[in-house]
Amino acid sequence: MAFSPAFIDELIARNPIEDVVGQQVALTRKGANLFGLCPFHGEKTASFSVAPEKGIYYCFGCHKGGGVINFIMETENLGYPDAVRFLAKRAGLEVPEDDAYQSQYKKKERLWALNKETARYFHAQMKSAGGAQVRDYVKHRGLSAQTVTRFGLGFAPNAWTRLLDAMTAKGYSKEELLEAGLVLSNKEKGTLYDRFRNRLMFPIIDVRGNVIGFGGRVMDDSTPKYLNSPETTIFNKRRNLFAMNVAKKSKRGMIILTEGYMDAIALHQHGFDCAVASLGTSLTQEHADLLSKYTNEIVLTYDADAAGQNATARAIPMLEKTGLRVKVLRMQGAKDPDEFLEKYGADRFKILLEGSENQAEYRLRSLQMQFDMAIDEQKVAFAQEAAALISTFTTAVEREVYGVRAAEAAGLTPEVMKLEITKAFERRIAREKKAQEKRDLAPAAALQPKSRELRYDNVRSAVAEENLLRMLLREPALFDQCGKLDETQFSVPTFGKVFARLFERWRSGLSVLAASLEGELSPPEMAHLTAVLQKAEQPLSEDAFRDCLRIIEEEYRRSQVSDEDSLLAMQQSLKKKKGYGGT
Ligand code: UTP
Ligand code: MN
Repeated sequence: MAFSPAFIDELIARNPIEDVVGQQVALTRKGANLFGLCPFHGEKTASFSVAPEKGIYYCFGCHKGGGVINFIMETENLGYPDAVRFLAKRAGLEVPEDDAYQSQYKKKERLWALNKETARYFHAQMKSAGGAQVRDYVKHRGLSAQTVTRFGLGFAPNAWTRLLDAMTAKGYSKEELLEAGLVLSNKEKGTLYDRFRNRLMFPIIDVRGNVIGFGGRVMDDSTPKYLNSPETTIFNKRRNLFAMNVAKKSKRGMIILTEGYMDAIALHQHGFDCAVASLGTSLTQEHADLLSKYTNEIVLTYDADAAGQNATARAIPMLEKTGLRVKVLRMQGAKDPDEFLEKYGADRFKILLEGSENQAEYRLRSLQMQFDMAIDEQKVAFAQEAAALISTFTTAVEREVYGVRAAEAAGLTPEVMKLEITKAFERRIAREKKAQEKRDLAPAAALQPKSRELRYDNVRSAVAEENLLRMLLREPALFDQCGKLDETQFSVPTFGKVFARLFERWRSGLSVLAASLEGELSPPEMAHLTAVLQKAEQPLSEDAFRDCLRIIEEEYRRSQVSDEDSLLAMQQSLKKKKGYGGT
């Protein structure tokens, strides 16, 4: 969906970045910019900046950045078009929608409505005469009537076309039922039948309250135990979490991540209203990003078996990457939270939760389990690895506490362990210092973008391109001086694209604002552009501008020549080969 540049201009003008960000972040003015605590990563000192004149935000800590539309995409978990609609609504603007979008959105609305009707239907079935068996099952699983209502649990009857009939009677088409994944088609007969039959049904609701899919559990030992809706235009398992719609409102200051629907539900019933579950898939980076929008702390409660521990190990780095604090809860005597609550109750779970291990404990314990302390060599190996691990802990108190613990585990005196840790610490500092020296000696590396998606191949030209764009954004009249500079001469394709789009806007009399490019650049590209714009500015002068132009052209010509050279060399070597081989 492409919005007209004029509309996006109006949208940006009517949603000043400092107002939009200011609704979520307390900002204080320092010079031309405003600063506050970054909403994208946990921090205590303000490294999140907003530049009202440029219409951008940028975090010097986590390097996220963009314009007002990017900000809404991030904080409201919306795609570009929906973020635009969100801001339009905020400013009371009418969105000019095209037909393709209208029909696409109407389709989605129909699927949401169909799923909601279906959830109501299943829920009513559970309460009906035919729902006796599922009511028994739910009772046997210890779920209260209130829980059943709160999660809208239901029953898919043991028949082939009951849902199909009920929903067609409500005016939904066969195509819509197929598209929602609620019915399947029999290839041979060409007839349709219900996907979910004789199952306890769990509606899956997204953070905006739409029913997007279902999970269904058998009530005996048949397989598959759980059946889920397939991926559809409205159901994406990689991006949604069960019960997130409820957990996002929790005041507990953490989110408990479980593996199963039943675990999340049991936790809610016992008062832990911050539990969510993944949808039968392992945790993705998208899940981690979603979670980080609603909390600073995650407690992992995966199963105690090897699969669960692997899942824990995989999840930790993804969660930490978003700045979340991660704790790992260790259950004994039960395989999952549902079983634990059933056996030991909420108070015992609360104790587990309070004592849940932080990263340090978890990593030390995992390490410990890899060694057999009955063997001396293994003890020594453990002590060394533990020392290396503990030396990375940031505070002296942590190093002290875990040092003592590791010493106990290895049967060594705390003094010996402390010595090992100090040695490991010094080795690490020496290594880091060396690495830093290497970085200092290679200033070009420091000029490289922070984002891993981008890389400067020609640093001299890239720096000139950065300066050029900074100056053009400050003083668009400089476009007059750009002569025959064009997109292809830039060494960084993103900058070439930015230049071309801005030039186009300037020529058509539109505002020349970085924020206007949000729809055309990917989020990492946009973040990089804002990083560049937030760098200290040189005084604006035509000489400096012409220098940038000259450098870009020089480097471009040089790259052309070397391309020609290598082409020539290649052709020659091919000729040679032919000459020798052709006899
Ligand atoms: P579990 O097998 O651990 O089930 O699957 P559970 O949560 O303990 O469920 P109960 O207590 O037996 O009812 C965990 C999750 O994996 C997905 C489901 O999302 C389930 O909640 N799963 C499991 C499937 O999608 N399909 C299956 O056949 C099994
Ligand atoms: Mn279970």
